[in-house]
Amino acid sequence: SANAMWGGRFEEGVDAIMTAINASISYDQRMAPQDIAGSRAHAAMLAAQGIITAQDAAAIDTGLQQVAQEIAAGGFPFSAALEDIHMNVEARLTEIIGAPAGRLHTARSRNDQVALDFRMWVRDQCDAAIEGLRALIAAFVAQADAGADWVMPGFTHLQTAQPVTWGHHMLAYAEMLGRDLSRFQDARARMNECPLGAAALAGTSFAIDRAATAQALGFDRPTANSLDSVSDRDFALEFLSASSICAMHLSRFAEELVIWSSAQFRFVRLSDRWTTGSSIMPQKRNPDAAELLRAKLGRIMGANVALLTVMKGLPLTYSKDMQEDKEQVFDAADTLMLALAAMEGMVRDMTAQVPALRAAAASGFSTATDLADWLVRTLNLPFREAHHVTGSLVKLAEDKGCDLPDLTLADMRSVHGDITGAVFDVLGVQNSVDSRVSYGGTAPRNVREQVARWTARLGKE
Ligand code: ARG
Repeated sequence: SANAMWGGRFEEGVDAIMTAINASISYDQRMAPQDIAGSRAHAAMLAAQGIITAQDAAAIDTGLQQVAQEIAAGGFPFSAALEDIHMNVEARLTEIIGAPAGRLHTARSRNDQVALDFRMWVRDQCDAAIEGLRALIAAFVAQADAGADWVMPGFTHLQTAQPVTWGHHMLAYAEMLGRDLSRFQDARARMNECPLGAAALAGTSFAIDRAATAQALGFDRPTANSLDSVSDRDFALEFLSASSICAMHLSRFAEELVIWSSAQFRFVRLSDRWTTGSSIMPQKRNPDAAELLRAKLGRIMGANVALLTVMKGLPLTYSKDMQEDKEQVFDAADTLMLALAAMEGMVRDMTAQVPALRAAAASGFSTATDLADWLVRTLNLPFREAHHVTGSLVKLAEDKGCDLPDLTLADMRSVHGDITGAVFDVLGVQNSVDSRVSYGGTAPRNVREQVARWTARLGKE
């Protein structure tokens, strides 16, 4: 049979395969709350403007509330023949209230309707991401607070570079995630314009009040151009791109957890809550959650590229291609929220292995830079020469199979005759981190200042 929503000029129903490719209800039913909120605001505005009667608006509102309850209760008979959430809601409204339901779609199109629903859905996800990020940052800050002066190796090229503090490493992630958080805030602020009232693409001849619906739905203002309003998916792309960058950060820490929890590193112990055993190897504590995050986060980047690919080259305004926006964003948002929650749990529960971290920090000639700096400061050597002398000392230690602090003063003097016993003061890892008090440096004192700054920021936001 011809479709009830546009059946006027159609004689035949669609092919079953057409229904399969066309219907979005299996996934866009997630936007039911947004769809119904948008319709209620639209109907109220139509009545306030005298475009529909107050009685019809009241019937529509009551009916929509019932539809919302039915959907929330579960088991709602969503129909693929009705394509999407918009028409499923309207069809059920018609069953419940009859004729007045037909007035709801006055001065509206599914094009502005879907743009509105999806924008509100993505806006909610920005809020959820911001909340998840705040909790995760708080977990990193708590780790930093506990371990402001625990010494660990800092790496470049995954080779021991210089000693750093655990707290400093934790706060590096707070910085990354803080930028992620502000990207979601920025995206949210930019997307917070209401497309409802753009109608199909050109606006409408009815005397609608777009400012009223915008305000009722929590938007800052209506969108300014109707063509742009129905064809813009920037808001979803900004969400995906902020999510992709955040996912990249999360995957880096996931990777560090995998490395750090290995028997070769033993930097952290992950709690039982985030690890699994092996059915054959009794000693195993596998960091599955971290590995799964490392892998799953790629889906978000895939979604970002997929939606860019859908949108690129589309002529204005709406094309059905754009229906392919939602599954990507839904999957990315689900993945992101799961990842943020899992990462927060892992960070809160992990236990730094402080003696192992310190021992690792002291190996690999990690204070060679401190030695070179001492030669500059004490013997007034040019840094390049100090670097060369230190290289020779490292080579000597390597040949003797010891670390720098284990060399004798005679060993030192065989490389540079002016070296004094005072040099040994700078070869310890504690001295090394304590000395790095330049702004943004790893010294425990700096870390405590930054913990205080983060604590204040988290309390305020
Ligand atoms: N299900 C559609 C989507 O997700 C809704 C908009 C349909 N508009 C239209 N003119 N066919 O994009």
